[in-house]
Amino acid sequence: MNTITVTMRSGDEVDLAFKPGLSLMEAIRDAGIDEVLALCGGCCSCATCHVHIDQEFADKLPPMSEDEDDLLDSSDHRDQTSRLSCQIPLSEELEGMRVRIAEED
Ligand code: FES
Repeated sequence: MNTITVTMRSGDEVDLAFKPGLSLMEAIRDAGIDEVLALCGGCCSCATCHVHIDQEFADKLPPMSEDEDDLLDSSDHRDQTSRLSCQIPLSEELEGMRVRIAEED
């Protein structure tokens, strides 16, 4: 098991164990964190799984698709750390990553 740290909107932090192979969105949801709505179920069509990723890990993430980029543009809270968590496959390389759940749009 590997671990990432998720910062909730309240500022509380949760250490979350994950199995490589799940998406970041699935791991957050499986941990019972309901701040990531993930309304489309991971099809990259809703943007309700928006998170901010520690920039230390930016180059370990898959490149952003055009669809993800377009969806993130619909958020008022987008910045250079924004990603859609359903588009991030978790791997051992991401051990120790810190993720903050984006404000709700
Ligand atoms: S769950 Fe809908 S875009 Fe990620």
